[in-house]
Amino acid sequence: MDLAALRTKLESYGQEHLLQHYDRLKQEEKSAFLDELSHLDFDRVKRIYELSCEEANNSGEKQKTLEPIPESSSDSVASASDELKNEWRYAGLKAIAESKVAVLLLAGGQGTRLNVPYPKGMYDVGLPSSKTLYQIQAERILKVQKLAEEHTGKSCIVTWYIMTSEHTQTSTEAFFLKHNHFGLKKENIVFFEQYQLPCLSPEGKIILQEAGKIAKAPDGNGGLYKALRDRGILDGMSKRGIENIHVYGVDNILVKVADPIFIGFCLSKSANCGAKVVEKVHPTEKVGVICRLDGRYKVVEYSELSLELAQKRHEKGHLLYNAGNICNHYFTLNFLKDVVSNHEHELRPHVAKKKIPYIDDDGNSIKPLKENGIKLEKFVFDVFEFSQQFAVLQVVREEEFSPLKNAPGAVKDTPEMARDALCNLHYQYIVNAGGKFKSNDGKILPDISRKTVVDDSVDGSGRLPPVKCEISPLLSYAGEGLESVKDQIFHASQSTHLKADEEKNISNGNEKTSKVKEATSPKRRKGEDIL
Ligand code: UD1
Repeated sequence: MDLAALRTKLESYGQEHLLQHYDRLKQEEKSAFLDELSHLDFDRVKRIYELSCEEANNSGEKQKTLEPIPESSSDSVASASDELKNEWRYAGLKAIAESKVAVLLLAGGQGTRLNVPYPKGMYDVGLPSSKTLYQIQAERILKVQKLAEEHTGKSCIVTWYIMTSEHTQTSTEAFFLKHNHFGLKKENIVFFEQYQLPCLSPEGKIILQEAGKIAKAPDGNGGLYKALRDRGILDGMSKRGIENIHVYGVDNILVKVADPIFIGFCLSKSANCGAKVVEKVHPTEKVGVICRLDGRYKVVEYSELSLELAQKRHEKGHLLYNAGNICNHYFTLNFLKDVVSNHEHELRPHVAKKKIPYIDDDGNSIKPLKENGIKLEKFVFDVFEFSQQFAVLQVVREEEFSPLKNAPGAVKDTPEMARDALCNLHYQYIVNAGGKFKSNDGKILPDISRKTVVDDSVDGSGRLPPVKCEISPLLSYAGEGLESVKDQIFHASQSTHLKADEEKNISNGNEKTSKVKEATSPKRRKGEDIL
């Protein structure tokens, strides 16, 4: 498209300001910018902006008819009998063994709150092993494949789909390559990139970041559906014979990737869509809540739930809207196919007000001190309303949810808290298996669950001091297979790291094996060192 035609097109969309500094660009910058603007789908930008305005205007109104999910509509891991959990587990393992299960990681977020110059999955929270979130997840996939194989005698593949964005694509792929895909086969990891959307002024004008560059941001984790369709991912899943997909966020250190119990639970309900929840216990905790609107399931995000509703309590005392979303979802392939073909265009983007750097009329680059624009984001859970067979499984927070959101030192969801949550859980696994921890004065530590702090008003002082203790996912997926620790004594003051045979024997702090020195605290690494 030539400049004159582009100018006319931009005027028709009210976006002519995008060329206001065009004359200042060098020749090659001019052609690149012209090319970018010529290919920009202004109709889509306009439609998405209008949908987001509609959504923002209606969401308050919609909340008036919101209902909490009925207690009877969800199952809970804590109250299910061992027999029922085993039924779910075996059904899940069977589906995994038939290579019908894939996992899909949402890893396109910018991780703004954590504030590191590399993708969150590459973060090392300071475990004795120094494993990153990506490595932990990869090893859980390896282990669950093995468990399914042991259970059925069939060898299988859990394909790992990883959605990245412009911000995370290159470094994530390079990281996996450098680490030899953490022992997984390269061909069973499929990276694909989500799309971006321009950042807009509150009036819908595209923000010009530099003279020849528009401001853009990933289109939210609900950008998944467009990416699945337009990158041909669902066709690839069909070819691999995949039927069930576990979708999850990158930051939850406790995530049970391809959890057989969850898969089996959803299969037992004939669900085409499902979600795990934990009990939300504090009104301002930053988790979305699953509720119902007009008989359909939906998540109201924490940023959108009114304080009045967030504070409402059930007569039994718990929060009325307490089904806390942990970004852990299940979909059948058929459901995803239906969504991308018939509903993707209906998804309404949500508005996030942000400080977006821009170039002013005089050509000065400005870093605004207060919010000047909006990012438009689709949310992964906004497809729940298209499901008529939705299943909710409540899980135990201490076993399944500790997200890494904020930088060290913050009040909540920090690397230290994620590390402690994993260590506390693994401590419990060892104690459950008959192992014991001894303090320096020779006393055996109590056999109690070491609770995670979730209440904003608690400063952490009520917590038990964490024991630095880690079990490799290659040894145990969820506490099983730890018979060898029975009657063993571990030193609470030392780092304990139980490894699988292939990682060279059980070691560390174990009285029956050689002691190793205390793991040093992890050094914060720069992005370039990590690659
Ligand atoms: C998310 C959930 C929230 C839930 C909380 C639990 C959404 C929209 N919100 O909130 O309901 O209670 O997790 O921890 O799911 N991502 C992308 N592309 C993007 C944006 C995000 O892939 O454009 C990924 C992130 O990398 C992350 C996941 O989506 O893995 C969640 O994103 P994040 O921004 O961390 O969501 P929260 O606001 O914490």
